[in-house]
Amino acid sequence: MGGKKTFYITTPIYYPSDNLHIGHAYTTVAADALARFKRLTGHEVWFLTGTDEHGQKIERAARSRNQSPQEFVDKIVQGISHLWTRLEISNDDFIRTTEERHKKVVAAIFERLYRQGDIYKAGYEGWYCTPCEAFWAESRLVEGNCPDCGRPVELLKEESYFFRMSKYADRLLRHIEENPGFIQPVSRRNEMVSFIKSGLEDLCVSRTTFDWGIPVPFDPGHVIYVWIDALTNYISALGYGTDDDRLYQKFWPADVHLVGKDIVRFHTVIWPIILMAAGIPLPRQVVGHGWLLLDSGKMSKSKGNVVDPHVLIDKYGVDAVRYFLLREMAFGSDGLYSEEALVNRINKDLANDLGNLVSRTLGMADKYFRGVIGRPGPAEGPDADLIALAGETPLAVEEYMDKRDLSSALGALWRLVSRANKYVDETAPWALARDPEARDRLTTVLYNLTESVRFITVIASPFMPLMAPRVWAMLGIAGRKDLHTWESLTWGRFPAGTTVKRGDPLFPRIDEAR
Ligand code: ME8
Repeated sequence: MGGKKTFYITTPIYYPSDNLHIGHAYTTVAADALARFKRLTGHEVWFLTGTDEHGQKIERAARSRNQSPQEFVDKIVQGISHLWTRLEISNDDFIRTTEERHKKVVAAIFERLYRQGDIYKAGYEGWYCTPCEAFWAESRLVEGNCPDCGRPVELLKEESYFFRMSKYADRLLRHIEENPGFIQPVSRRNEMVSFIKSGLEDLCVSRTTFDWGIPVPFDPGHVIYVWIDALTNYISALGYGTDDDRLYQKFWPADVHLVGKDIVRFHTVIWPIILMAAGIPLPRQVVGHGWLLLDSGKMSKSKGNVVDPHVLIDKYGVDAVRYFLLREMAFGSDGLYSEEALVNRINKDLANDLGNLVSRTLGMADKYFRGVIGRPGPAEGPDADLIALAGETPLAVEEYMDKRDLSSALGALWRLVSRANKYVDETAPWALARDPEARDRLTTVLYNLTESVRFITVIASPFMPLMAPRVWAMLGIAGRKDLHTWESLTWGRFPAGTTVKRGDPLFPRIDEAR
């Protein structure tokens, strides 16, 4: 398949310090929708996720449960991959930082930076926030606490290795200025530019106070700073620097590192500088999305106010949970999670708008034509308007996806859903059905509705992967893969003469009193 455009997308690698919550699920589902969308639109995609298993935080969590760190993470990682399976995540690989393939790449890069003088050894005293795994200068602390999370910091004194970040600050600023798409959305980019302009300090990149990490290859009493370790996953997973680096050759530089806004700084300052120093091209884009908030603030494992995705999937189904997350979080902004908001979205957008469109279309086809969709006659009345919107929708959705604005992409799709529902009201098929003269017109109306449902289903498939196969079966085109593709979205491809059949409601209404 030479010549296909490639697309490499990553999620953060999550800390297996506890089970994940729907905030993490948001990032992974969003990356999955982008990956599926790119596959649908003809790209050769590599989609990576994984786990960030080293560091003091994990070591302490394991110890508090009387387990070895490896035992402890193995169990949690199993749960994480099970969650991704349940959420229909289509990742091509899953990298764990405790894997040999990862460790050797990190050690090699560290050694290279040391040999060329970008990493040096010096005495150090500084404040460390263990929950964030981040060092802070005394001047940046807020009332003596971590400026990011507000929790207490610890004073660390040790001989450490340092990474000469300051040396690359100007080059990084230039890169950010010359590549306006590099940090998205723009608000994050502006934050990072002022952060870099305020001056970069050299970064402490090793620790001696614990040993759950990758040893510095030439000084094994030190372990490599967990963020240097973690960020490198994006290339170690591609086999960078090994005998088999075909994936690296094919997919690097990454098209998108999708991350939460809390870790944009690591991805747009530390990571690019590591890559510059190692002579590796920079990723094309880092997208920092907002947080999913609860009334009680940001959901976080350490605060204990988390929502378990498994419970929501059991109750509402995978497609509904995915749809809610992707629609509710406006691009770049925070979104408020509540079960009430989730139920509202399901009842309004999925049951009322989409579900009804499908069930009305199939119900009428069944009632008036025993399910057979006939050949359409000439366009009349609102037909042209519906057909035009159906033609524009794939382009509009693709444009939003290219801006990584998934919620607006779904908004554009729902304009078509609403237009099709309005078309039912405008054409009043039940009135046409009473008039024997209007038989041809009724045939046309049902054709147009069925073709609209096909368009909507193709476009929805990256967001709600379980819905599509159900609709294909109802439309009688399960075996017609050629009609499930992006290229098939030219109006009139639905084969006249096909028999459709109604099925169970796609998205049953949720009784709000439950
Ligand atoms: O930071 N809303 O791992 P992590 C939205 N190991 N997204 C949220 C969220 C919320 N309430 N809470 C978490 C780490 N996330 C590092 C990453 S990458 C080289 C190393 C998502 O387990 C969001 O994407 O703490 C955030 O960036 C990520 O989970 C942090 O996951």
